[in-house]
Amino acid sequence: MLVIAHRGASGHAPENTLAAFRRALAMGAPAIELDVHQTLDHELVVAHDDDLKRCARDKRRLKNVHWDDIAGLDVGAWFDKSCAGERLPRLKDVFDLLPASVELHIEIKRGSSVYPGIEERVVDLIHKRAASSRTVVSSFDHAALYSVRSLDEKVRIGYLLGLTTLKTALREMQEIDAESLNLSVRQTLVRTVKAAHDRGRKVLVYTVNTPAERDRLNTLGVDGIFSNYPELNLWR
Ligand code: G3P
Ligand code: MG
Repeated sequence: MLVIAHRGASGHAPENTLAAFRRALAMGAPAIELDVHQTLDHELVVAHDDDLKRCARDKRRLKNVHWDDIAGLDVGAWFDKSCAGERLPRLKDVFDLLPASVELHIEIKRGSSVYPGIEERVVDLIHKRAASSRTVVSSFDHAALYSVRSLDEKVRIGYLLGLTTLKTALREMQEIDAESLNLSVRQTLVRTVKAAHDRGRKVLVYTVNTPAERDRLNTLGVDGIFSNYPELNLWR
């Protein structure tokens, strides 16, 4: 079972920062997940929320700001004083950091309805970095996944279920050839795992932060978990 460092090693360092990704790499994480938004001037920014309140005490929304206006913000101090000075990374900064051996799960937080052209920019960057085989694009915004598929027939796709019914999800996953069904822990039932596996899709589960929960999901046969603690990976 693959353990994917959720927002980097976000149990140990401020989420979605280069510090969190470096920590995950140092811990030997085979795969990393991050979240992507887009600024007004079309920079792909790695952050979870659509505004900067929680991590930078700044109320502005990423879609309304220019990259230069937020590049200097501190997104580390909220986590721990010792992490002060961490900056928002751009998606390209993370590509610069990651070795080719590490799988990258890029979660597009909202598609073109909120961030015009984001799907194209993500796919372009994956192409520029020759990273198609080691990158998985996921989203709760399924229209964004359809766009991604229309841009590249080979790109790997993870389908985050969200509030969609399993029946619709399985149909849409087939239409866009998503390789995995990504579920919350609560959504992960025996029959859901079986339904995905019967159709040749993997199941990845978020967010799993204890050995007991990891072991339970492993017994259920899930293929991977997103965890803030990459040290849960005992099988590397
Ligand atoms: O991609 C799995 C997980 O990251 C989805 O939820 O809110 O942590 O981005 P969230
Ligand atoms: Mg995420």
